[in-house]
Parts: sequence; structure tokens; C-alpha cells
Amino acid sequence: MFGLKKQSAGDLSKQELKHRIQELKAEASRLSNESDPNQEMLAKCFKELERCFRALADKESFPPLEEKYRSKAANWRKAADQKRVVDTSSITPEVEHEREGQEGGQENATEEFDWEEPEIDFSDVGGRDELKSRLWELAIDPVKNKEQHRTYGVPVPNGILFAGPPGTGKSHMAKALAGELDRKYLDISLAEIRDSLAGESEKNVKRLFEQAKEHQPCLIIIDEVDALIQQRGSDDLSAGMRQLVSQFLRDMPSLKEEDVLIVGTTNFQGDMDDAVDRPGRFGQDFTIGLPDKACRQEVLQIHLEDRPVASSSVDLREIARLTQDYSCADLEEVTVEAARKALKEDTYITQKHLKRGVQQVDPSVNPSKW
Ligand SMILES: Nc1ncnc2c1ncn2[C@@H]1O[C@H](COP(=O)(O)OP(=O)(O)OP(=O)(O)O)[C@@H](O)[C@H]1O
Ligand SMILES: [Mg+2]
Repeated sequence: MFGLKKQSAGDLSKQELKHRIQELKAEASRLSNESDPNQEMLAKCFKELERCFRALADKESFPPLEEKYRSKAANWRKAADQKRVVDTSSITPEVEHEREGQEGGQENATEEFDWEEPEIDFSDVGGRDELKSRLWELAIDPVKNKEQHRTYGVPVPNGILFAGPPGTGKSHMAKALAGELDRKYLDISLAEIRDSLAGESEKNVKRLFEQAKEHQPCLIIIDEVDALIQQRGSDDLSAGMRQLVSQFLRDMPSLKEEDVLIVGTTNFQGDMDDAVDRPGRFGQDFTIGLPDKACRQEVLQIHLEDRPVASSSVDLREIARLTQDYSCADLEEVTVEAARKALKEDTYITQKHLKRGVQQVDPSVNPSKW
């Protein structure tokens, strides 16, 4: 069922790999939603995602992107490892005991999530000025001027939701917010919380909230949060998943009064459980759409800042005009393509290279679908 058997990940172009990754993510989401998810198929799916991200990293010459793809590959490998299928018919009590000792409960219950120090702030986010000032007012100022806000009875939110099409900068904005708040953050997805063993997913949620309290002040980014907080009324939802959603929604308000901010990102806000936006949960939500012309120009500017550019020859207003419907991720890709071409010619990046970058990169989002 997985196409890469015919063609290995290494043989695919970057565009084909990205397309394949979208397909695999959709397949993983479909499999997870089945009432009795096929763990072996899920593990295979995660493994292929790992291979695709590794192949993308191998093809990437821009170090930060290469690093990002390698870290995604490592995350999918971790998720695949957690899905290791065990043939229960062959497990004797001794084997089970040994298994528990090696990989089981105790160790998992205390395992640290991967907390990171922020590397970007709002100055690394092109455009989005209105959203930045809303976030300042809502989440940053109340932390910096705590007493004043307490006096006026203005609460600090514990949950914010960013919704919108892929590649528009939801995760980027969340990381920049961590930078503005000068807080360590955790970037996590359902794959790292969900466990096929009964009761383990709930323990992971508990562990997540406990660690958040220990690490506060901190920020947790939950990528594709719609996959975690699914509609509990849906017939397609497994009992285990329904329990997990309930546990998460029950535990989140326990963060009230704690210096923990959870930022959820989603492409499918409408698919989430209706209880998601109650106070104490994701009470504030923002849509981050495709960038307008002024925003596109700033995004291009940011991604060219640390590259050798022949400034006098470059007119970013023209490139911004030529890139209507491009997401921020697409614009970043345009600058990478331009840089690659200039590197080949051993020269500065010029308007010609940027225009060729535009020709090479197609917009990845169909605006009529959003
Ligand atoms: N406003 C921006 N300014 C500069 N770069 C940006 C901006 N928004 C996004 N980017 C770049 O685009 C890339 C993709 O953004 P990001 O991963 O945040 O998208 P996303 O909305 O979370 O996508 P998805 O829905 O697929 O998770 C980032 O690596 C970042 O470098
Ligand atoms: Mg994201």
C-alpha cells in the first residue's frame, strides 16, 4: 500500500517528497482514528515518514532546514519505535516481566520530554503585525506586568490556538512567542502522547502536565492539535482516543494560575471537540492565513538577511507581486532555490535568481479550499 516500495525515498524530488509526506500524514491520521488501529500499519507509516524526512534532509543544502528535517525524521522514528508490535501469544509471564523492566511503565512515567530553548522571537516573523500586537497584549504584557493585571483582574491565558493552511507560520509564530516570553518550550504532537497500550496515553498526558508545572515558566506547542482533541461524539473515534481527549480537556484547566502557556496549531479547527474553547482551555483562537503582499515581502526579506545578496539588483516588491497565494514556507523555499542557483554560479543572489526560484516553486496551498 505504501508507494515507496516501488520507488525509494531517495529517488523522489523535494516536491514529490513533500507531497508524499502529506499523503502519509493523512494515512496515519486515518489509521489512528479507526476504532482498533492497526499498530503494524501505523508503525510502517511512521517509518516511511522518517525515511521521507531523512531523504528531504539529504537533499537540503540550507543547514537550518536540513536540521529541521533531520529532527522531524528522529521524531517519526521515535513514534515508530513506540508502536513496535508484540505478538502477545508468544509472551510468557517471564518475558512480560522482562519487557516491562526494559521498556515499561516506570521508566516511561519519568522520561523527560524534549524541552528546547527558544531561538527566534517576533523579529524573525515577517508581517503579521496585528497578530503580534494582539499576542503582546494578551500573553506577553500580562506576564511582564503581572501585578498590574492582577489588580485589574485581567487573567493570563493558558491556551491559544493558531488555525490556518499549511506553511503559513503557525508553529513559527508559536516558537517566536516562546522567544518573546523568554521561555523554554516543548514542541509535541499526538504521536508522542498516544500509546497503543491501554492507559499509557493518559499517563503520558499526566506526565506532560506534571513536567510543564516543573519547568514553568514554559510554553508547550501542540502541533496538529485537532488530531489530539477530536470530536468525542464522532462514531469513528476509538474508545481509547475518546478517553484521551477527555483526560486532556479535564487536565488542561489545572494549569490555571501556573506559568504554562499551551499553543495548539491546526489546519482543521472545525474537526475539534466543541469543548475546546471553554475558559481554561484554548479560549483564544487566531487564524493565520496566506500572507498578503506586504507580509510576503517581509518574509522574503527575513530569509535573505543572512545570505549574500546583491542588494542593488534585488526588488522584493516585484517578487512579492509574483508570489500571490504562496505560503510562507513556499516563500522560504523560493529564497533557498535562488541561493542554490547563485551558489552554483559562485555569485551573489540577484533578482534573476529569485525569479527563477519563483518559477521553480509552485504554491503548495490551494486558496479556494481554505
Ligand atoms: N511570518 C514569517 N516570517 C518568516 N518566516 C516564516 C513566517 N512564517 C513562516 N515562516 C517560515 O515558513 C516555514 C513554515 O512555517 P511553519 O512551520 O510555522 O508553518 P505551519 O503553519 O506551522 O505549517 P503546518 O500547518 O504545515 O504545520 C518556517 O520554517 C518559517 O521559516
Ligand atoms: Mg506547524
